Order: sequence, then structure tokens, then C-alpha cells
Amino acid sequence: MVATIPSFGLGTFRVDADKTVNAVKSALQIGYRHIDTAQFYNNEAAVGQGVRDSGIPREDVWVTTKVWWERLARDKLVASLKESHALLDIGTIDLALVHWPSPNSAVPIAETLAAMQEAQQLGLIRHYGVSNFTAPLLEEALNAPGGGEIVTNQIEVSPFLANRALVEATQRLGVKVTAYMPLGEGRAHNDPTIKAIAAKHGATPAQVTFAWLLSRDIVVLSASTNAEHQQINWDAQKLKLEADDIAKIDALDEGKRNANPPFAPKW
Ligand SMILES: NC(=O)c1ccc[n+]([C@@H]2O[C@H](COP(=O)([O-])OP(=O)(O)OC[C@H]3O[C@@H](n4cnc5c(N)ncnc54)[C@H](OP(=O)(O)O)[C@@H]3O)[C@@H](O)[C@H]2O)c1
Repeated sequence: MVATIPSFGLGTFRVDADKTVNAVKSALQIGYRHIDTAQFYNNEAAVGQGVRDSGIPREDVWVTTKVWWERLARDKLVASLKESHALLDIGTIDLALVHWPSPNSAVPIAETLAAMQEAQQLGLIRHYGVSNFTAPLLEEALNAPGGGEIVTNQIEVSPFLANRALVEATQRLGVKVTAYMPLGEGRAHNDPTIKAIAAKHGATPAQVTFAWLLSRDIVVLSASTNAEHQQINWDAQKLKLEADDIAKIDALDEGKRNANPPFAPKW
């Protein structure tokens, strides 16, 4: 079993189920050992098939799924994870996240965490965590029974949304940060500062962006159905940025959030 969340994962948001199988297989063949899905993405069965067909031993791969915010009450959450478990069909799921906090804490976090523990006891999941939690919500969760086992807070982080206060609060509380939408919805590819740093290192803007996140001790999720892009993105782990490069990317922060649906918490 993979002991802790691998620092570079393949995302599958907005990837159609018919493309997901090959995307997961090619990523695993490149070396990825962490695949991120969600019940909301409607591609869990394809993720599971990709893992099974990849030829990589199941125990070497970390698979994360998420429970939608409308299913956080005890019975609904366990039912949601039973469905995810059946669709993925890869045995125990490595990590299940609360996809978004319950709006206005309609379902108390203590109830949701108790349901996560029940899912653990049923063998549906190994670990649990949260996503899109603000620092006060995360602190409340950590103080609830079972909160100490939260392994990650998956949040949006990109050069244009450094999310510094939340990243630092999460890390200070001993919880790993996982970054989604790291390229700022594609904007990093064309940013002049990132392009200049990339040219200096003989790298691509996507690689520079991922290396910047890794330098902040953040787990990176990058999504691609294109095996060449997957390889380029994976190779970002070899790129070491200089302090001056990091400072220049830090300065791009403008608090520009892309994921902010109506049910999002008050950031
Ligand atoms: N917890 C949450 O609420 C939440 C929200 C959003 C996302 N997520 C997770 O985080 C993952 C990553 O976020 P994301 O999918 O929005 O963002 P992303 O990885 O920043 O962007 C994906 C897009 O970038 C393109 N791309 C990737 N690498 C490229 C490269 N080297 N060169 C050119 N284009 C490249 C992909 O196209 P190609 O396929 O053509 O390469 C795809 O269209 C998601 O897939 C999902 O698993 C979680």
C-alpha cells in the first residue's frame, strides 16, 4: 500500500469517461502513482478500469475520490462511498474527500467525519480528508472526533491564486495541501514571467508552475489526456527553481479564483 499521498497526481475533472481509461493507463505507465477523481466527475468506473488495465500493481497506486456536498449526512455519505467503491472496483479506496464543505454547516462536520470512519470500518476507504475548506472550517474539522486523521485539504492554488494564508494555515495545522487547477485554467502557459523562467531553464511554463508548487511542499494535481503532456508534466519534478524564480512567481498572485460555485464557503 502507498503509505502517504504521492506528491504528483493525475487529475480527471472534465475528462469524459471514454477518454479516462487511456489517460489513466498512460499516466501510470509514465510513473504517476496518484489518480484523483470524484463522484461528481462521472468517471470513477473508467478510472478503476484504467488502474486495473495498467499492469501496475493495485497496491502501488493511490486513488482519491470525493463525496459531493449534498451527500455529507451519515447515511448518504456511506451510500455514496459504497457506490464509488463499486464503480471504481479496485478494492479499498485510498482516500475519500469531502468535496465541498456543507453550506452553512447544515450537516455538522462531526457527523460527516463519523460517517468517514464508518466507511473506513466497512473497508470502503483507507483515509479521509477535505477539499475547499477554509482555515476556520478546517480547524473546526480537526477539533471534531476523528479530525486528527484528515490527511489533506485539496484547494485551488495557482500562480494567480497563491492562496498563501490558507496554504500556510493548512500546513501549520499539520495537514498536507493538495493543489487543483494549478495552471490557472491554462493562463500559466502564456504568462510572460513564467515563460521567461521556463526559457531560462529549458523547460515549459507548465513545468515551471508545477515546480513552484512542489517548492511550497504542495501536492500537485495536473490533468491531461495527452500522453506527451502527461510526460512533460511528470518531468517537472526534476526541475529545481532558483529563489529568484520563486519570488517572481510569488509576485504574480492576484487572488484570482476560478472555482467559486454558489455553494462555496465564504473564502
Ligand atoms: N476539489 C475540487 O473542488 C477540484 C476542483 C477542480 C479540479 N480538481 C482536481 O484537480 C485536477 C487538476 O485541475 P484541472 O483539471 O482544472 O486543471 P489543470 O491540470 O490545470 O488543467 C487541465 C487542462 O490543461 C491542459 N494541459 C495539461 N498539461 C498541459 C501541458 N503540458 N501543455 C498543454 N496543456 C496542458 C489539459 O489539456 P490536455 O488534456 O490536452 O493535455 C487540460 O485541458 C482536476 O482534474 C481534478 O482532479 C479538484
